[in-house]
Amino acid sequence: MSSEWSWHLIEDHSTTERVLDAVARGLDDPGGPQLVLLTAFRDYATGFVDACHNQKEERHLFPLLEAHGVPREGGPLGVMLAEHEQSKALLGQLVGLIDQYVNGQASTLVELRSTFEQYAALLKSHYWKETDVLYPMARRILSETEADAVLTGLRETESKLGADTRARFQALAETIVNMMELEDLSAGLPKEVLAAVLNTLPVELSFVDAEDTVRYFSHENQHKIFPRTRGAIGLKVQQCHPPHSLYKVNQILADFRNGRRQVAEFWIDQGGRKIHIRYFPVRDARGRYLGCLEVVQDITAIQALQGERRLLED
Ligand SMILES: [Fe+2]
Ligand SMILES: [Fe+2]
Repeated sequence: MSSEWSWHLIEDHSTTERVLDAVARGLDDPGGPQLVLLTAFRDYATGFVDACHNQKEERHLFPLLEAHGVPREGGPLGVMLAEHEQSKALLGQLVGLIDQYVNGQASTLVELRSTFEQYAALLKSHYWKETDVLYPMARRILSETEADAVLTGLRETESKLGADTRARFQALAETIVNMMELEDLSAGLPKEVLAAVLNTLPVELSFVDAEDTVRYFSHENQHKIFPRTRGAIGLKVQQCHPPHSLYKVNQILADFRNGRRQVAEFWIDQGGRKIHIRYFPVRDARGRYLGCLEVVQDITAIQALQGERRLLED
């Protein structure tokens, strides 16, 4: 089929646009993008968009169109080539920013987002021009033999990058897209349901973020083992503990932050009840420290349990 070359290239465009949308969603995440998403995108954009797709056009399509009199300077091919160059330059900046972010320079996120937006906008507008204008024109101009030669050329360029180049990058694209579609199940819960679930847990929760600022506590306005009011929100955790315990608090938080410790637990007697207090480091899916969760539980009744009671027994 003489127009198959164009469907091959259009498939590249549509795969890349899905990747761009997934990465845009990832960058919008209030908690910051997943590092694996950024590195997968970096590998896809450098290995496929720049080194494969653009090269296929530049080596096998544009020269034939030029031979048919489509002007390079001041014409559509010049615009396409200039945009390839612009996208390459932006990608170079993006790769640098991604590497800095992945290496812990969170301050690069604002620039990373804006550079990605420029890159995505450029590619989308470029793909529209090619898909809707340049390729239809080329389909009219190229003979059947030439069209077949373009397709052969596209496949050759891919095979020079490895036997399974196309399948490999399509799989990488799917991984990126799936990463963003596979949200945590709790994302499907309305906020008020999630809040009610947390308030129904038989434990009291308090959460301080990665900067040690109190952000949340459960069971507000309910009878609590450790009563808390909204005034605690926004305070540094160090302000909520007596000075003599600060050294210990800071030590635990430091151990959580650097992964040396997975739990810190204490138990006290209070009003004839046994109170179990545990602290856990909270990490996201890629292991980044998000903060510390305090879990307080009255375990008096649990300690008193004897024998068994099974669901199917009366
Ligand atoms: Fe292009
Ligand atoms: Fe293209």
